[in-house]
Amino acid sequence: MKIDILTLFPEMIEGFLNTSIIKRAIASEVATIDIHNFRDFSTEKHHHVDDTPYGGGQGMVLQVMPIVECLKTITTPESIVVLMSPQGRTFSHQVAQEFATFKHLIIICGHYEGFDERVRDYVDMEVSIGDYVLTGGELSSMVICDATIRLLEGAIRQSSHEDDSFANGLLEYPQYTRPYEYDGNTVPDILLTGHHENIRKWRLYKSLEKTYNYRPDLLEKLELTDEQNKMLAQIIENKEKQ
Ligand code: ADE
Repeated sequence: MKIDILTLFPEMIEGFLNTSIIKRAIASEVATIDIHNFRDFSTEKHHHVDDTPYGGGQGMVLQVMPIVECLKTITTPESIVVLMSPQGRTFSHQVAQEFATFKHLIIICGHYEGFDERVRDYVDMEVSIGDYVLTGGELSSMVICDATIRLLEGAIRQSSHEDDSFANGLLEYPQYTRPYEYDGNTVPDILLTGHHENIRKWRLYKSLEKTYNYRPDLLEKLELTDEQNKMLAQIIENKEKQ
């Protein structure tokens, strides 16, 4: 997958590209990421990319020309252009799965008070990472790249994200590693039995239990299997007894 990020602050993103799983994904060519500073496309004397809003008002607005000229140098018929903005469609695991199917993703990061509205004529979609306003789109572009790249084949073991929270609509079951006992707390013994079917059932039960306790809204959206429904009934019964 090829990703291009348009930003005025490449240094914010460089550390991310040089760390851990993303660094490895780039080294093994699972993903290529190029950063473009759209300030380079300003034709103004001091390379300004923003100006005061027509009609007056607070703050500075990003100009349309540098962004669109930058886009023109990288866009192909396969490109999907995404604008980072709090107005956009909310990012989720499902959106990450959709993005992971794209061949070429272009992400535009804003800064200051926002974009000249005409930028929107050149984008395929607007994406927000949540209902709050950040000082710029750089952090959100990294969130999107991270969640998307880890889903690409070869980035991490396939089985690692089959059990991700949200992948099957449920939160992930609890995980443990050595030591067996810490501060009087031990690892559930079933995980030491080597009995795969019992471990699968235990994990499914715990996954349902966590989802019921922390995110019951997720359960409402799911069509549970018979096995899951029986477990959920048990979870509710146990909770009522407490
Ligand atoms: N830019 C500023 N706030 C943002 C948000 N919540 N999501 C995406 N991009 C943003």
